Amino acid sequence: MEQSFQTLGEFIIDNQSDFQYSTGELSRLINSIRLAAKTVNYQVNKAGLVDITGSIGSSNTSGEDQQKLDVYANDVFIKTLIDRQIVCGIASEENDDFICVNSSDGGYNNKYVVLMDPLDGSSNIDVNVSVGTIFSIYRRVSPPGTPVVLEDFLQPGNQQVAAGYIIYGTSTMLVYTTGHGVNGFTLNPAIGTYYLSHPQMTISEDGRIYSINEGNYVHFPIGVKKYLKFCQEEKDDRPYTSRYIGSLVSDVHRNIIKGGIYIYPTSSKAPNGKLRLLYECNPIAMIMEQANGKASDGYQRILDIVPTELHQRAPFFCGSSNMVRKAEEFMSS
Ligand code: AHG
Ligand code: MN
Ligand code: MN
Repeated sequence: MEQSFQTLGEFIIDNQSDFQYSTGELSRLINSIRLAAKTVNYQVNKAGLVDITGSIGSSNTSGEDQQKLDVYANDVFIKTLIDRQIVCGIASEENDDFICVNSSDGGYNNKYVVLMDPLDGSSNIDVNVSVGTIFSIYRRVSPPGTPVVLEDFLQPGNQQVAAGYIIYGTSTMLVYTTGHGVNGFTLNPAIGTYYLSHPQMTISEDGRIYSINEGNYVHFPIGVKKYLKFCQEEKDDRPYTSRYIGSLVSDVHRNIIKGGIYIYPTSSKAPNGKLRLLYECNPIAMIMEQANGKASDGYQRILDIVPTELHQRAPFFCGSSNMVRKAEEFMSS
C-alpha cells in the first residue's frame, strides 16, 4: 500500500518563505531542474534501446571523453533553464566557458547562476549502473541588468543558496537543500511526480563504509595510505566495508543513508585530485554539511575554498563527520 507523501511541488510552495528576499525565483528555478531531470531520466532509462550510449568521440574541457548522454543531459538542462528565463548564467562541466543568458531571453535581470555536472558517472552508463546530475546555485555578485561575469561563478561554496543531486538509480530521486536541511524526493515514473520520501536526511556521525578507488593506492599520499590501513585494521568496529561504484552521486547517496566516507584524494597521477570543485565538491559538500556530515580537502573545509578557475579540481573527503575527522588526522600526521 503506497503512503500518501507530499509532492515536491507542494513542498516547494510550503517552504518558499524559508528563502531570504524570496520572490519565487529560486522556487521556479528548482522547478525547472526537476523538469529537466525528468527528461534526462526518461532517456537514461531507455539508454540500451536507442543509440545514445557510448562515446561521442570528443573530449570536454578537462580532456575527458564525452559520452552521448553527457552531451544530451547538458543540452536538456541548459535549454530548460534558458527557455524558462530563470537564470542569468550557467556553468557546466561540459562547457569550456560559462554561458551568459542574454537580455532577449530576459536573463540579465535574473538573480541566480547555476553550476552543474549534467551527468555524473557517465562512464557507468553503458553497463547499467546508476548515474546522476549535480547542481549548485548562487546569487550573482554582479549587478542585475548587466551580463554575468566570471566572478559570479567563482564564489566559495559557503555562498551557495541551494545545491542538490538527482540519482537515476533503481528509482530516481532528487535530493536537495536550500540551507534548511536535506530532503529527498522519489519520482513515481507512472505519473511523473516526485514525492517527499526522505524528509530531513541525515548521515550518522560514525559509519562503517569507505569508498575510494583503491586501484590507485600506489599513487596516494601517505596520509591516505595510512587511513586506509586504519580502515582495514582488525580493531574495535573495524575492519570497515569497502564500497565503490565509481559514480560520485551514487557513492555519496549510499553513504548518506548508511554512514560512511567517500575519498577522491590527490595522487601522483592527479596532483589536484579528479573531482571538480564547482560542479561536484561544493554542491555535495553543502548537502553533506546540511545532513550533519563533513566535507574537506583533507586539511580544510571544502566550502571555504575560494576558487580561481571554473574547472578547478580539488581532493575530496566527505561523509560521516567522525570518519572525515579521522582521515584529516592521518593527513596531518
Ligand atoms: P563524470 O562522469 O562527471 O566525469 O564524473 C566521474 C567522477 C565521479 O563520478 C566518480 O566518483 C569518479 O569520477 C570516478 O573516478 P575513477 O574512475 O578515477 O575512480
Ligand atoms: Mn562527475
Ligand atoms: Mn559529468
